[in-house]
Amino acid sequence: MDERQTIEQLRAELHKHNYQYYVLNQPLISDLEFDQKMRLLQELEQKHPELYDPNSPSQRVGSDLNNEFRQVVHKRPMLSLANTYNRDEVREWYQRVEEGLRGQSFQMCCEMKFDGLSISLHYEQGRLVRAVTRGDGVQGDDVTENVKTIHSIPLVLSRETDYPEEFEIRGEVLMPWSSFDALNVERAAAEEPLFANPRNAASGTLKSKNSAVVAQRKLDSYLYYLLGDDIPTDSHYANLQKAREWGFKIGPQMKLVSSLQEIYDYIDYWDVERKNLPVATDGIVLKVDSLAQQRSLGLTAKSPRWAIAYKFMAEKQTTILREVTFQVGRTGAITPVANMDPVQLSGTVVRRATLNNEDFIRKLDLHIGDHVYVEKGGEIIPKIVDVDLDARDENLGPRVEFITCCPECGTPLVRYEGEAANYCPNDTSCPPQLKGRIEHFISRKAMNIESLGPETIAEYFRRGIIRDPADLFEIRREQISGARGQKDRSASKILLGIQQSTQVPFERVLYALGIRFVGETAAKTLARNFKSIDALAHASLEELLQLNGIGTVIAQSVITWFANPQNQWFVERLRSHGVQMELSESELAEHTDKLQSKSIVISGVFAHHSRDEYKALIEKHGGKNVGSISAKTSFILAGENMGPAKLEKAQKLGIPIVGEDDFLKMIE
Ligand code: IVH
Repeated sequence: MDERQTIEQLRAELHKHNYQYYVLNQPLISDLEFDQKMRLLQELEQKHPELYDPNSPSQRVGSDLNNEFRQVVHKRPMLSLANTYNRDEVREWYQRVEEGLRGQSFQMCCEMKFDGLSISLHYEQGRLVRAVTRGDGVQGDDVTENVKTIHSIPLVLSRETDYPEEFEIRGEVLMPWSSFDALNVERAAAEEPLFANPRNAASGTLKSKNSAVVAQRKLDSYLYYLLGDDIPTDSHYANLQKAREWGFKIGPQMKLVSSLQEIYDYIDYWDVERKNLPVATDGIVLKVDSLAQQRSLGLTAKSPRWAIAYKFMAEKQTTILREVTFQVGRTGAITPVANMDPVQLSGTVVRRATLNNEDFIRKLDLHIGDHVYVEKGGEIIPKIVDVDLDARDENLGPRVEFITCCPECGTPLVRYEGEAANYCPNDTSCPPQLKGRIEHFISRKAMNIESLGPETIAEYFRRGIIRDPADLFEIRREQISGARGQKDRSASKILLGIQQSTQVPFERVLYALGIRFVGETAAKTLARNFKSIDALAHASLEELLQLNGIGTVIAQSVITWFANPQNQWFVERLRSHGVQMELSESELAEHTDKLQSKSIVISGVFAHHSRDEYKALIEKHGGKNVGSISAKTSFILAGENMGPAKLEKAQKLGIPIVGEDDFLKMIE
């Protein structure tokens, strides 16, 4: 056998073993043997660059090349699903389907609703040619290189099966609980921010510009929708069984039913059983099985009439409260944290949960030893939602009292009128507040000093090198080189990163200052309207309140901040180091208020500029780019192929549609 044949054979074998391992969960060879074959393939491929194949199993390792995502318009828009939350709503939908089908008998396919991010995969002649994220439903990002690193997605379909020449298959990219937990353990060790849930982790990973990172993070996939002009049968269920034969991972939970009662049974069963699945699910999807019936039911503006999602209630568990600790954030806000007996919740072990604030603790009449209900909603940190008063016994400990002094610096806490949180007012020397402000200052959307991370900040802080962000610009090389094994090269990199941040535009500097309530958007508005820090520092409450998006809370916070001499001194120090304190000439020239107070939706594909460029143009001219159409939308900036759903909605609400050329004239 010549080397060309060996390469082909190895590729075919590795595709098969990959499928056995990642899709069927039934490996036929050991990991070692797999690695040996892969190494051999890689060697041979290196020797024969002329035999390069983008879909070779060796391409799953990803590359360090920075891949920019191309925007791709979906051949068929990616709709979403309407949600239901209880049996009555499911029944009402079922009845609408019955009516819509005018007495025809029908079957329903029940499936899990996987909680990841949706992906559209295109195959031609059995080879993966393109993978695109949902994006806004009309167009998404081309993430093909990243998707190739997901082992359960076949790059080449087995020749022995009868797949169509061309088809699209949609599904969900997910990070299994096991990978998610391991990733967060790693991130915690590196003092990197944790991912709130597997969905965010999967989405952050899939959109990574570096496919080698994606390859390490171990994503998985489940596919649930086959589309194309030439698909095998009229049954959605049967089509997915076919797709499974072609090599795709299809949720084995799928089931065909023919009555409402069977749907309820399916929901009841999986509401409990889903906790044993390796990936996150947040509901059930019900689909009319026959494609002909699907067509006759049709679509509404946003979602098909032939399918619906039933969302599970957030999972709730009880456990015992052992201790309440208090955390101090960047702004000095105190968060009470419940430390509990470990409890299994949506696939992870939970030991800590938030208790919101003082009033909440009082309302619950919370005691140590209480049986508490913990819930993990779709988002972020688990929270305590209630106490089981009936479960109290003689082991009940003391009542939980909110602290009166800061746990970090001992300063008496304050509570501002109208606010639920308690604050440590010692913003000049309370360590977590100081560190938090520096971390905020260097963060990506602020000064974006990538050469520094929370760990280094903590170390410099501990060693007394920095106490506030302005100190960063006064770090001397000898303070940070050589110490604790830090190499000169890394010191240079850090110093360079800090120096380069002086070129960050004024609007981001304003955000970096960390003025309470001044987020990214408010910072942009303030920068563009006042144009310099001095003008902003002298602004009156009335002037501030005139701006779109600036309310009393933000305005008052800005005034208070600039009135503080320490902050004035902080600004002067930053200025003396060359940090931008006003809009640059070019920014000044570019900005107008031609689109002042306009909410603009961008839709379709454009000839002259990219979407991001249009977004930037809208902002430069004082407008706001919003994601979805509502009665408040001023107009739609529409390119070619605007999605039918958006078009219908715009027409219904009577919202003007402005073409690319007219828009450019508008801001000329
Ligand atoms: S079908 C036209 N089936 O849920 C129907 N979607 O809320 C297209 N999802 O964007 C979707 N599991 O990302 C379908 N078994 C499943 C699903 C599923 C999860 C996601 C999908 C979709 C979202 C809609």
